[in-house]
Amino acid sequence: MQNETKKTKIAMVGLAVMGKNLALNMASRGISVTVYNRSAIKTEELMAEVQHQPHLLPFIHPVYSIAQLVQAVERPRKLMLMVKAGEATDDTIAMIAPHLEAGDILIDGGNAYFEHTMRRSAQLALQGIHFLGVGVSGGEEGALRGPAIMPGGDAQAYEAVAPIFTAIAAQVQEQPCCAYMGVGGAGHYVKMVHNGIEYGDMQLISEAYHVLKDVFGCTPDALHDIFSTWNAGELDSYLIEITAQIFATKDVHTDEPIVDMILDRASQKGTGKWTSVDALDQGVPLTIITSAVFARYLSAQVAERHHASTVLRGPQPSTISSAQRDTWIERVRQALFASKICSYAQGFAQLRVASTQYGWQLPFVEIAKLFRGGCIIRARFLQNIADAYIRQPDLPNLILDAYFQHAIDQYQHSWRAVVSLAVEQGIPVPAMSAALAYYDAYRTKRLPANLIQAQRDYFGAHTFERIDRPGTFHHPWSGA
Ligand code: ATR
Repeated sequence: MQNETKKTKIAMVGLAVMGKNLALNMASRGISVTVYNRSAIKTEELMAEVQHQPHLLPFIHPVYSIAQLVQAVERPRKLMLMVKAGEATDDTIAMIAPHLEAGDILIDGGNAYFEHTMRRSAQLALQGIHFLGVGVSGGEEGALRGPAIMPGGDAQAYEAVAPIFTAIAAQVQEQPCCAYMGVGGAGHYVKMVHNGIEYGDMQLISEAYHVLKDVFGCTPDALHDIFSTWNAGELDSYLIEITAQIFATKDVHTDEPIVDMILDRASQKGTGKWTSVDALDQGVPLTIITSAVFARYLSAQVAERHHASTVLRGPQPSTISSAQRDTWIERVRQALFASKICSYAQGFAQLRVASTQYGWQLPFVEIAKLFRGGCIIRARFLQNIADAYIRQPDLPNLILDAYFQHAIDQYQHSWRAVVSLAVEQGIPVPAMSAALAYYDAYRTKRLPANLIQAQRDYFGAHTFERIDRPGTFHHPWSGA
């Protein structure tokens, strides 16, 4: 058994892509870490890799059994799980928990569904074990160099691991992209909405690409230039940056632009769907992210679409003079930015409702700030969101903030023009048009829901409220 002083600060359980890189990240910052994987091969591979980085060797301690694992970590033990979400996480907890003691801290850094985190947290609490559900975003590169980290769970347990997490997180303006989100499933909830927002961003970018390619005939080379220019302005973000790089990349087999060789069937791991399902449960209009989820489903119906393309007609594409091309490219940029604002407004509105529903008091300024680095949705524009919540912590909706109000006001003419053009030309822009419809509905003083209430009262005597007096009313409809 190791001497207590020789024990490591933390253990990493699960050494696939994310776990391995997080462990290397910890070691590179001088944080000693015990590493364990269900099958020994991954541990051996990691150790073989570390042989080539001898400066990391003193900080990585491999173990090959649960008994060794729990002996190797200083007390109270901090064990971080980076295993497959779902059953694998439950199985791993079931294997490890009997070997732990009250006061130990078990951390799930996987993409767990937040309700599972709440359940696991309650179960482990019976044993006196603190459970932290921690959202980690940034993929392989982020895990190694600095991810965005969204920890949730017992606040005191978080304090014990905060020095480790803040050391390994991405840093923006010398601030770590890591902040405590709240009790229970708060961390995994915020990570879920982050992923939903990522779906929205990717769909909106793809719609801009579709319009530029099919209406204006932009080639991948031209699109590389357009997206590179956009990335130098207010759309500056990781996703716009990699999109520009994608357009400049050639296929190794054909030397054609790789983007043209990739099948148009979008896959998913389901976190976007979770965000939409939760929005439906909570009664939050999350139309943009949900359109993005549905757009992926529709893209996956490849054979049906191929058949439909031979029998269903659309409008005749009309050509737009090349003299107007640059004007339209700027309009598309503006439409994308305005839509993106609405997508984040919906995502943050969902966080706001959940915060009240689950009693989390989610820190919106910190959330926007930590999204600025390490994660897939990192973008310059997140600073504007942080500023909006600094100006007004109880802001009901981001589009009411003066900065975003002004941005949309300036761009709405272009936004409407691009959506109209896409509709006229038969180019689907489900997320961009959902964003515009959301903006228009949100700013409409009197929506046609009065008619829906009349219909409900007519066929089902469901009653309605009136605009001129309080109470509920039923009208004696003739014929009803
Ligand atoms: P990635 O980081 O690449 O996204 P993942 O698919 O989320 O990885 O998780 C893979 C990890 O979960 C691996 O460490 C895997 O262990 P093995 O290498 O032994 O397969 C672990 N894992 C998967 N199912 C598991 C289970 N039922 N019990 C314990 N660990 C499991």
